[in-house]
Amino acid sequence: MTFTPEYTRDDVTPQRFFLNRRQLIAGSAALMAAPAFAGTSPYSTDEPPNSLEDITTYNNYYEFGYDKTDPAEYASALTIDPWSVTVDGLVDNPGKYSLADLIAGQPIEERIYRFRCVEAWSMVVPWQGFQLSGLLQKLGVKPEAKYVAFETVVRPSEMRGQNGGSIEWPYREGLRIDEAMNPLAFMATGLYGQPLPKQSGAPIRLVVPWKYGFKSAKALVRISLTDQEPVTTWKTLAPNEYGFYANVNPEVDHPRWSQATERRIGGGLFAGRIDTQMFNGYGDQVASLYSGQDLAKDY
Ligand code: MTE
Repeated sequence: MTFTPEYTRDDVTPQRFFLNRRQLIAGSAALMAAPAFAGTSPYSTDEPPNSLEDITTYNNYYEFGYDKTDPAEYASALTIDPWSVTVDGLVDNPGKYSLADLIAGQPIEERIYRFRCVEAWSMVVPWQGFQLSGLLQKLGVKPEAKYVAFETVVRPSEMRGQNGGSIEWPYREGLRIDEAMNPLAFMATGLYGQPLPKQSGAPIRLVVPWKYGFKSAKALVRISLTDQEPVTTWKTLAPNEYGFYANVNPEVDHPRWSQATERRIGGGLFAGRIDTQMFNGYGDQVASLYSGQDLAKDY
């Protein structure tokens, strides 16, 4: 199991940029939707969001298969109610929380974020949810905690991709505490004003917009506070290709492809590759987290 780049350095076929009529219509619908969602948060981009169709039909969610269309086709099998999230480790208020209890008291807001996959495609997504920092404050992180680890649901009877393949389930991710406390780190429960679709990670997922998309784990069931760097799925599968940090960085190429540019999904008439920005354009908010670190080594 490995990620597949959309393009290699030498394989940029212009035909792939031509869009069909349906994509063009979806693109203009996204443009029309933009004003309603723009400016809802100082952390939101004013770039036009992708259409709901773009966002929910081109997904990575290996629990349901390896193809981009598998999640849309098969995620309906997942039961998301009831749902609980276990909180454990170095935390004042551990326990098994129902989803409602977990999110109680967290102000729900909208964040329109750029989303950049390590495979070099990107979207703009209007999420609803709350800051991870607010949840961590409520849970009471002990001073010894240095990291937060996330685990996602294991349910092979409902998730067909969990019956084989090379990923050892659950899908695991993690953040350093200072990363998790950054106001951009977000827990999404909705998309386009609706409950989060199942292929997008219902009922609750992480969104870390300055990191490659694989950090943004879907269908969370465990949050653990720890003093050790958590084991993470992609670092375990291919440590030479994927590190713990996974910050979007156009200057550090993947061993098998360039990260300098990306393809914005549903780019309409002017579709083409755009330059990838350091920290996916969120450097003002997050660059200081990494001062003194060599990001070519801590990739
Ligand atoms: N979360 C789980 N549980 N399983 C996954 O396979 N894939 C990751 C991330 N979260 C994944 C996951 C990857 S590789 C990416 S790029 C994003 O989800 C894709 O999110 P999207 O489908 O909402 O665009």
